[in-house]
Amino acid sequence: MSLNWTSYVDTDSSVEHDRLLLLQQLFDGDSEKLLERAGLAPGWRCLEVGAGAGSVARILADRAGATNVTATDLDTTLLAPLAESGVRVLRHDVTTDEAPGEFDLIHTRLVLEHVTQRDLALRRMVSWLAPGGVLVVEAAAPMPEMSSDPTVGRALAALSDQLRRSVGTDRTWARTLPVPLEQAGLVDCTAEGHIIPARGGSPFAHWMIETHRLVEQDVVSNGTLTAAELAHTFAAYTNRLSSTTRG
Ligand SMILES: C[S@@+](CC[C@H](N)C(=O)[O-])C[C@H]1O[C@@H](n2cnc3c(N)ncnc32)[C@H](O)[C@@H]1O
Repeated sequence: MSLNWTSYVDTDSSVEHDRLLLLQQLFDGDSEKLLERAGLAPGWRCLEVGAGAGSVARILADRAGATNVTATDLDTTLLAPLAESGVRVLRHDVTTDEAPGEFDLIHTRLVLEHVTQRDLALRRMVSWLAPGGVLVVEAAAPMPEMSSDPTVGRALAALSDQLRRSVGTDRTWARTLPVPLEQAGLVDCTAEGHIIPARGGSPFAHWMIETHRLVEQDVVSNGTLTAAELAHTFAAYTNRLSSTTRG
């Protein structure tokens, strides 16, 4: 497969829908804890930016009340069930479209690292907060250099490079937090990291295989990785006995 997106991800494709569902399964538990710690309560006006397949907006709706929640994305096809339950669903580009309202809580997950105008997007989200409002940003920072398997590490580096070239993804941005939040005008900012081992055979390793498949033609044809290295990487992510990488 070859990657020809201009933004991450193409929510209109069935492969991407499956990848989004897997991603939700992997990260929703931690996101829910973060939202609890942010004080999410009934009646809070909430915005979910880049809602994808909508699971975090669903969590917000369950806690704050569906009619208090707005869920945005470039493509809202997968958010139709949320709209039916009373959530306000908006086709909306966080970098250009008009303010979607004023909010007590804004959350975004695995979006800003892929948006080239991420500082502008942050400033805009900050301007949509009500006084005393909270912004919760979750972003990934793959670290190929930490891989326990050098070939798997090279494949992760090749994937990250291809995403940077085709989408503008910055794999190091998350590690600069909370500085960009302070620069966007927020106070009382904190950041923390969470390392997820992509052990062979785990759901996360499965997601890694599916994500590598998006760029396999690109990285082999441009000489970044050999077909044998990719095959080794897929086997390492599949084999339950080997701990392969951390990202
Ligand atoms: C990796 S997915 C994450 C989806 C969801 N936040 C989650 O964690 O399950 C990134 C999402 O951001 C959306 N997105 C990308 N650029 C965007 C933009 N400029 N404005 C709004 N959404 C955007 C994509 O369409 C996609 O649904």
